[in-house]
Amino acid sequence: MDRIRIVGGNKLHGTIPISGAKNAALPLMIAALLSDETLILDNVPRLADVALLQRILGNHGVDIMAAGKRPGDHEYQGQTLHISAKNIIDTTAPYDLVSKMRASFWVIAPLLARMHEAKVSLPGGCAIGTRPVDLLIMALEKLGAEISIDAGYVVASAPGGLKGATIEFPKVTVSGTHVALMAAALAKGTTIISNAACEPEITDVADCLNKMGAKITGAGTPRILIEGVAKLHGARHTVLPDRIETGTYAMAVAMTGGEVQLSGARPELLQSALDVLSQAGATITVNNDGIKVARNGAGISPVTVTTAPFPGFPTDLQAQLMALMTRAKGASHITETIFENRFMHVQELARFGAKISLDGETATIDGVSKLRGAPVMATDLRASVSLVIAALAAEGETMVNRIYHLDRGFERLEEKLSACGATIERISG
Ligand code: UD1
Repeated sequence: MDRIRIVGGNKLHGTIPISGAKNAALPLMIAALLSDETLILDNVPRLADVALLQRILGNHGVDIMAAGKRPGDHEYQGQTLHISAKNIIDTTAPYDLVSKMRASFWVIAPLLARMHEAKVSLPGGCAIGTRPVDLLIMALEKLGAEISIDAGYVVASAPGGLKGATIEFPKVTVSGTHVALMAAALAKGTTIISNAACEPEITDVADCLNKMGAKITGAGTPRILIEGVAKLHGARHTVLPDRIETGTYAMAVAMTGGEVQLSGARPELLQSALDVLSQAGATITVNNDGIKVARNGAGISPVTVTTAPFPGFPTDLQAQLMALMTRAKGASHITETIFENRFMHVQELARFGAKISLDGETATIDGVSKLRGAPVMATDLRASVSLVIAALAAEGETMVNRIYHLDRGFERLEEKLSACGATIERISG
C-alpha cells in the first residue's frame, strides 16, 4: 500500500493549480444518466472516486470516453469525459460497488426518474458518523416513488413516472438536495425544494441540468423551483474549481509560511474559510488568476469556529483548520455541527505533539510551539490531509499511511506541494 513521506520545515512558495471539484464532478457524472444523449464534462479531476464512479456507471450500461491533456495545452486542465447513457442496461447498483463510495447511492434518482425503477444497495457504514439516507428516500417518496427496503437494497419504483411535489427538508442536506433536484428534473409538474442546501456544487449541477434542458430556478438559495420536463438532452459543462482543495492548500501555506498562488481558485466559493484564515494571520489577496495566500513573519493566531452549511465554515475543512491551530499562539475552539464523530484526526494529530481536548461537539486546541514528525494513519479523506498539513510544519520525518483516502479526493497532492518546495514523496508498495 502506498505511503507518503514528508520532511517538515520548508516554507511553501510558488503556484498550485486548483482542480475541478470532486463533490461537483460526482453528481454531474450521475446526472448524465438522466439523458440518452451525451453529456461532456470538462475539468474533471483524476481521482480514485471518479474512476470508481466510472465503473459504477459502466455497470448500468453507460459509455464513458476520457480525453486528457491535448497536445499544445499549456496548463494541465483536468480530463474531459464524454458520458453517454444511451442504453441503460441495468437499474441495479450492487453492494460491492455502492459500499465503496456513498455518493454512488445517488444514482437512484436519475434511474427512477428516467427508467421508473431502481434497486440500489444501502451505502453501509462510514467513518464519519451514521450518515443515513432517510431524507433522500423521503424526497423520492414525495415525488411519488414507492420504496421498500429488501435485503439491504432500496427498491424504488414509479410506474407512471415521478410527479412534482413540495419537498421540505427538516435539515440541510447536500445529498438530499442533489437527489431531489435530479429526480424532479424529469417529474411531471412543479417541484419546490425548501430548506435546500446552498452549496456551490448544487448550483453547478443545476446549471448543467439547465444546459441539458431542465427548468430549474433558485439553486444556490434555500428555495429551488423545478418545472419538470419530459426529456433532457446532451450538453457540455465545465466542473467548477474545488473549494475544499483551495482551502486545504491555503491552510497549508498559513501553516508553513511563505506565499502561494492558488491558480483558478474562486474566492466566493470559500469566503468564510478565507475570513478565518485572515483572522489566523494569513494575508489573502484576490487577483485575476485566483487567490494568493501568504504568511510572512506573523505567527498563527487562535480562532473560534463552528462548521455550518454553506455559506458557513465547511465541515470538509474542519480537520485542516484543526491541524493549523495546533501551532497557534493560544487556545482555539472548533465545533463540528454537521457530522457526529468527525474528530478521528484528533488522536493522530496528538502523535505530532498537538494538545487537543474534546468535549462533545467541540475541540479545544492549545497551540504548541513545535510539532514533531511521526508515523500516522487516517480513516477519512479530509482527516488524512490534515495530517499532511501538520507534517509540513513538523520537525523531522512523517510517514502518512493508508493514503488511498488522499487519492480519493486530492489530485496529484505530492506533486503540487513539492513544486512549491515541500519535501514530500510517495513511496509505492
Ligand atoms: C456532502 C459532501 C461531503 C460534505 C457534506 C456536508 C459529496 C460527495 N459529499 O456529503 O464532502 O462533508 O456534503 O457538506 O458531495 N443526513 C440525514 N439523512 C439523510 C441525509 C443526510 O440525516 O438522508 C444528515 C447527515 O448525517 C449529516 C447531514 O445530514 O449529519 C448533512 O449530510 P449531507 O449534507 O447530506 O452530506 P453528504 O451529501 O453525504
